[in-house]
Amino acid sequence: MNAVQIEHLTKVFGRFTAVDDLSLEVPAGQVFGFLGANGSGKTTTIRMLTGALKPTSGKARVLGVDVAKRVEEVRRRIGYMSQRFSLFEDMTVDENLRFYGGVYQLPPDVFAQRREYILQMAGLAGREAELTRNLSVGWRQRLALGAATIHEPELLFLDEPTSGVDPIARRRFWDLLYELAESGVTLFVTTHYMDEASHCNRLAFINSGKLVAQGSPRELRAAHGNVSLDEVFAILEARAPQIAS
Ligand SMILES: Nc1ncnc2c1ncn2[C@@H]1O[C@H](COP(=O)(O)OP(=O)(O)OP(=O)(O)O)[C@@H](O)[C@H]1O
Ligand SMILES: [Mg+2]
Repeated sequence: MNAVQIEHLTKVFGRFTAVDDLSLEVPAGQVFGFLGANGSGKTTTIRMLTGALKPTSGKARVLGVDVAKRVEEVRRRIGYMSQRFSLFEDMTVDENLRFYGGVYQLPPDVFAQRREYILQMAGLAGREAELTRNLSVGWRQRLALGAATIHEPELLFLDEPTSGVDPIARRRFWDLLYELAESGVTLFVTTHYMDEASHCNRLAFINSGKLVAQGSPRELRAAHGNVSLDEVFAILEARAPQIAS
């Protein structure tokens, strides 16, 4: 089964096309890297897949469900760690987890179990009463990951989950992502870090809202003369105007 199936997805803002006839598939169980420069349309695509934004045209199925028709079911079964907002800074660790437990209407016993698991997973046990704004970025991101997975989603969207995080905390964060992937969760992740991209099963590059290349990290490097992923990215960026026109 495909966890995500997009056909000719397009989003136009006024006279500007942010996502342009995008078609792609993400098989269930994969760690899928969605790459592109600033403004290439990654967040806009994710917002359409999560039902936050209505496409101008085209179709999206998430976990086999048509997002346009059954958005509530999609929302129940996915998690979303957004690029800008995930946590309330002026609430404690515990209050943030309670908020998300409430959003997903977890029964008290299930919530208690998930809360315990997440505090352990994030390394935040004993810090439940701390204000979220006082946590360093790395801890905050792990808490946000916990909050986004409190209802045990089958598919998790992560929009630049590690931006601003130091290299060691990024590695720790990716260890958590692998654990999730091993438990069967499909991960749809955007990143500007090519070391992270190299850890994905499959990658798609978009530019000006258009798909310009996809494949495994190894396939993409081989297709460009076995250069590094950083160089693949640079090559695809440089070529973009021709593709876009
Ligand atoms: N609501 C909106 N109204 C008008 N333009 C928008 C809107 N949302 C996004 N855009 C534009 O669409 C383009 C794609 O934005 P998007 O946020 O999807 O890019 P991105 O790939 O996520 O970039 P980044 O890597 O910086 O997060 C940008 O030029 C952005 O300014
Ligand atoms: Mg974005």
